[in-house]
Amino acid sequence: MGSKEKWWVDLPMFGHRQWLLKLARLDERDGTVSGEDWAEWAVHQLAEHLGVPSATVRPATLEGRRAIVSRSVLRDRLEYLDHGNSVLSARFADYDQSVKGENAGYSPGAVRDALDGVGPPADVEWPGSFTAFDVWSGYLLMDAWVAGRDRHDENWAVILRGGERRLAPSFDHGNALGFQERDAKRARMLEDEAHLMRWVERGTSHHFAGKPKLTELAWCALHIASPSARSHWLDRLDAITADAVDFVVSQIPPAIMSEVTRRFVIQMLATNRRRLLDGYSGT
Ligand SMILES: Nc1ncnc2c1ncn2[C@@H]1O[C@H](COP(=O)(O)OP(=O)(O)OP(=O)(O)O)[C@@H](O)[C@H]1O
Ligand SMILES: [Mg+2]
Repeated sequence: MGSKEKWWVDLPMFGHRQWLLKLARLDERDGTVSGEDWAEWAVHQLAEHLGVPSATVRPATLEGRRAIVSRSVLRDRLEYLDHGNSVLSARFADYDQSVKGENAGYSPGAVRDALDGVGPPADVEWPGSFTAFDVWSGYLLMDAWVAGRDRHDENWAVILRGGERRLAPSFDHGNALGFQERDAKRARMLEDEAHLMRWVERGTSHHFAGKPKLTELAWCALHIASPSARSHWLDRLDAITADAVDFVVSQIPPAIMSEVTRRFVIQMLATNRRRLLDGYSGT
């Protein structure tokens, strides 16, 4: 599944679970290595700050090529992934799984109905009676914060274990944080706030019905989640400090992330956080 070169590997020194090794792709425009690796690693760290369960990601190399490893979200051999497209098809007989881009049947409302009866991710103390959808709405809030546009119906899943069904931790976060932009453009956006604002406003989903803006998608999901989930996620985002974000980004080696990129990522995250918190009207 998916579009990148990748392999499941055993890393016995890091426990019994398998890890998915994903190579960072080459940028077709100039043959440089794209920043998918640092983006996927950074989003995992940011997810932890937000309290969104996500596959553990570590930087890696394979024969000198930049990569990441993503630890399997399956805890043992009794667990299986049931991807979003299959979960939606089981609920809606006419759900079209073959669509690659915008899918008219793919919306937060449809996901909420399809996740009916599914529990929240395991191994986390969730407040009150959190459902799978209550947690999934947090995945969309995270996507909007990190400018992640890739939440298609195979980029989330339910974990089946015997008769039990629980939402899987979030995975596949490499397409985020503006990893594909050029430094010259990033520098212009850092100089000109209106330019950065136009860039973040253009952030839409490729996959959901109507190709909504990422902010609107997140607000829509929060709006139909339970009131406690809505306030939980907005409070968690509100509590994110600039220091926490700086620390995450500062750990990426300068050899793979320029100073301009670093400043852009920090500025973009601060802008999106404000847009999400200030713009949520609850209607
Ligand atoms: N940490 C993980 N644990 C278990 N399964 C995973 C994990 N990460 C990825 N997978 C599985 O591997 C598939 C492909 O991985 P992933 O989505 O990360 O790759 P990709 O090539 O980036 O995909 P895309 O085409 O969506 O960009 C996922 O759809 C999922 O089935
Ligand atoms: Mg994927």
